[in-house]
Amino acid sequence: MNKDQITIKLLDSPPPYELLLLADPSTKLVNEYLSKGETYIALMAEETIGVYVLLQRDDKTREIKNIAVAEKYQGNGIGKMLLDHATSEAKEKGAHTLCIGTANSSTSQINLYQKKGFVLSEIKENFFIDNYTEPIFENGTQAAHLLMFSKKL
Ligand code: COA
Repeated sequence: MNKDQITIKLLDSPPPYELLLLADPSTKLVNEYLSKGETYIALMAEETIGVYVLLQRDDKTREIKNIAVAEKYQGNGIGKMLLDHATSEAKEKGAHTLCIGTANSSTSQINLYQKKGFVLSEIKENFFIDNYTEPIFENGTQAAHLLMFSKKL
């Protein structure tokens, strides 16, 4: 796969829900993030293969939401490209901190974020139990707590 063929740009077409829901099974929360943040997509040829939403949390803090790569393209470094892109965008917008949250059960995402320089900064206990109607399990572990990772820009 030639990553030079991938471009990342602001969304100017209908939201790619199939991808967005890979990262968050709640359509309600996805729509909330879409309306509040800026959505970026990764395109290869005409195909949308990745997405993330950049939200402003306060003057100096941005947060990445709903980062996802189409299943058939995962494991090729596109997630890292999206994280690098979000880092540049947040810096350009004047943020001092970039953060991203994931479940205690999302072990490969936790590894990925730490590899890209994010540090565990907060634990929102029982977030997934309190905010989702159905229990979520990943590899046999229940998603209960939201782990927030932050990076100084
Ligand atoms: N296959 C192989 N390795 C994977 C993987 C997969 N499906 N998913 C993640 N990894 C690991 C690799 O170890 C890799 O590290 P390395 O290159 O140092 O070995 C690292 O994660 C980054 O891989 P990369 O290829 O850049 O990530 P990606 O393009 O697969 O994107 C996600 C990462 C998390 C965005 C993607 O897997 C995804 O869309 N998952 C479903 C949605 C989701 O969970 N979003 C995050 C919500 S918090």
